[in-house]
Amino acid sequence: MLLLGSLQRQAVRCENLGSPMYAELLRRLVADYEIGGVSADVLAGYDDPPPGSVIGLRLLGAVHGLVLAGEVPELAVFYPSVGGVWDPVLGWEAFERVLESRAGEVRALLTQPPQTNEVRRSAALYGGLLQLVWDVRLPVRLFEMGASAWLNLRADHFRYVVDGESYGAVDSPVVIEDAWSGRKLDPVALRITERGGCDIAPVNPLSAEGARTLTSYVWADMAERLERLRAALEVARQVPADVRRADAVSFVRGLELVPGQVTVLWHSIMWQYLTDEDRAAVDAHLAELGEQADESAPLARLRFEPGAEPPYEFLVELEIWPGGGRRVLGRIEDHGQDLVWSFPSESGSN
Ligand SMILES: C[S@@+](CC[C@H](N)C(=O)[O-])C[C@H]1O[C@@H](n2cnc3c(N)ncnc32)[C@H](O)[C@@H]1O
Repeated sequence: MLLLGSLQRQAVRCENLGSPMYAELLRRLVADYEIGGVSADVLAGYDDPPPGSVIGLRLLGAVHGLVLAGEVPELAVFYPSVGGVWDPVLGWEAFERVLESRAGEVRALLTQPPQTNEVRRSAALYGGLLQLVWDVRLPVRLFEMGASAWLNLRADHFRYVVDGESYGAVDSPVVIEDAWSGRKLDPVALRITERGGCDIAPVNPLSAEGARTLTSYVWADMAERLERLRAALEVARQVPADVRRADAVSFVRGLELVPGQVTVLWHSIMWQYLTDEDRAAVDAHLAELGEQADESAPLARLRFEPGAEPPYEFLVELEIWPGGGRRVLGRIEDHGQDLVWSFPSESGSN
């Protein structure tokens, strides 16, 4: 059955990324499902979920949301995100009881894709902008499609630590340790004059509900990610960004160039959600806008997405108009880990 394979794969992934608690919960969900336990009822109808729908993470996010809302104190005592201590045996028993008593609410949340606005991904954005500004020497108008809670639009307000050296805002509460390796980035003054974006299902990071939704999709025993998210929410309260509910195609269609500034479209881990038609439309709009670009009003596209060909590794790529032509700036893992800047001679693969 596809569901069980997907839960098992997700368990391995949680283990590898540093969440033994979620790995354990997912494995116990599989065992429980196989004997027709409560998870078989909660997950009924999801036997063959579409690829990438990460049903296990939706379920864990739904339960984490109840914990964060203070609705299941008997389970919260096992959740490190709210000061509890994880116990694989007692924790699972409490989890199982919550699935039994709150099955309706959990099932309702399974229909929603996880909203993971991963702050660590901003290392790719920040480093990519440094490389862009090194080339164009202009202030930046920064726009993001699929911005989720638009936390990463404040990338220049975070601190990035690389070999003991800091980049970005040195007094920021958001600290990204071991932000990258590889090619040393040239120091350059980065000034962002405008921040905007779109998402088809934006989460407002300034509301209590939005902050809770975002937190619920961070794995509950990953203290560093939780801390980074809390700090990014604090920065979001201080640095405004204009994000609206819109789909990527209409958003890109509305972009304009401004003389004396470089207009940047950034996107991370969202391309896979667009239809082929929408991807073609975004590419066509950008190419059209690129035709209008000149040295005084350039356009750039900075992306952090999987490459189009095997081994489908995640790449950070930059394209600048006038000129066009895509350059690979670096390689990275999907949550923003292990970012390695490469050498300028490399070119894009797709
Ligand atoms: C995996 S999240 C990534 C969020 C953010 N870019 C990041 O890296 O943390 C993908 C986001 O794309 C958004 N999305 C999916 N399809 C979209 C579309 N057609 N137009 C705009 N946003 C879309 C989703 O709502 C979600 O917020």
